[in-house]
Amino acid sequence: MALVPDTADVLVVGGGIIGLVTAWRAAQHGFATAVVDPEPGGGAAQVAAGMLAAVTELHHGEQTLLGLNLASAERYPDFAAELTGATGLDLGYRRSGTLAVALDADDRAHMRELHALQRRSGLDSEWLSGRECRRLEPMLAPGVRGGLRVDGDHQIDPRRLAAALVTACERAGVVLHRTWAQRLTVLRDRAAGVVTADGTALAAGRVVLAAGSLSGRLAGVPDDVVPPVRPVKGQVLRLTVPKRYAPFLSRTVRAVVRGSQVYLVPRESGELVVGATSEELGWDTTVTAGGVYELLRDAHELVPGITELPLTETRAGLRPGSPDNAPLLGPTVLDGLLLATGHYRNGVLLTPVTGDAMAHVLTTGELPDVARPFSPGRFGQGPAGAARTNPTEQPV
Ligand code: GLY
Repeated sequence: MALVPDTADVLVVGGGIIGLVTAWRAAQHGFATAVVDPEPGGGAAQVAAGMLAAVTELHHGEQTLLGLNLASAERYPDFAAELTGATGLDLGYRRSGTLAVALDADDRAHMRELHALQRRSGLDSEWLSGRECRRLEPMLAPGVRGGLRVDGDHQIDPRRLAAALVTACERAGVVLHRTWAQRLTVLRDRAAGVVTADGTALAAGRVVLAAGSLSGRLAGVPDDVVPPVRPVKGQVLRLTVPKRYAPFLSRTVRAVVRGSQVYLVPRESGELVVGATSEELGWDTTVTAGGVYELLRDAHELVPGITELPLTETRAGLRPGSPDNAPLLGPTVLDGLLLATGHYRNGVLLTPVTGDAMAHVLTTGELPDVARPFSPGRFGQGPAGAARTNPTEQPV
């Protein structure tokens, strides 16, 4: 077994956006930090649409998660400016808002309920008639029955975000080990590093497991600490809006069509992202004819003109789903092992607050108040006394 002499203070397993933001913040706080990932900046961010949709993706029973989502949305302007300042890279951060529309009477009733929930939760959301929706977005189908205008739900380009985080990490001195972490090393009941796929032993003061949907698969993690994270497949399409059609859409447009979420996210670059399926199919990442068909069919009901656009990419990714749809953040019952995983549908949105929360817990040993309900303790993987309540349980 090869030995690498240097010991990191913090070794992050997983170089997706959550692992990278944790590493960047850790390095900024003075920790000697390393990341293990064969392809830093890859993972679900390469597929995600990048909606920062704290308000339009609000669900009944997810009030505590809403608090974390809003805390992260509030951080986004400063976070994006800081990351661009550190790297010189544009993130495609666009504060152009979101319109969630209803296509029939059932959708409208559902949308009215969502609006009431948003209002009870103190969120900014304005009800518009079908005509008002079309005035904002003339490409919408004539049948749109009404909708919610949420100017505070923005977007970012997750591929640019991931690339910028790689650069920020490199500039902050984070060591990137471009290989797989194969096994957690546990010495005297304490996480002490990992062994990589090529047999190299990487030693560390603390290990942060931030491997997205793969977080439950690292060998050597004791059974009672393995995070309850599963892959939830999402198929996503990318189309291109030719200059002669611009502006095709000026904000994110979304709807629930026959019970499935569909959203269209227009970028400054002319890219139009259409997502996403939600499939419990294990590790399958096949793009299927059925998935593409359903997305195009539903998107076409919303915006008929999309059938004119070139289809430039089809791809499937795996969301890291958790039992309560909320992330697991902070220390586990195994000394030296922390989690930053399970962000499910909200990884891009939750990137800034996750970086801050992980830096806080690495520095002080405690999660900040905003992140405390998301301790792994709620599933039994966290230290005694940590939250065991479900963060999504509170009724509105
Ligand atoms: N947040 C969008 C999705 O997970 O599809």
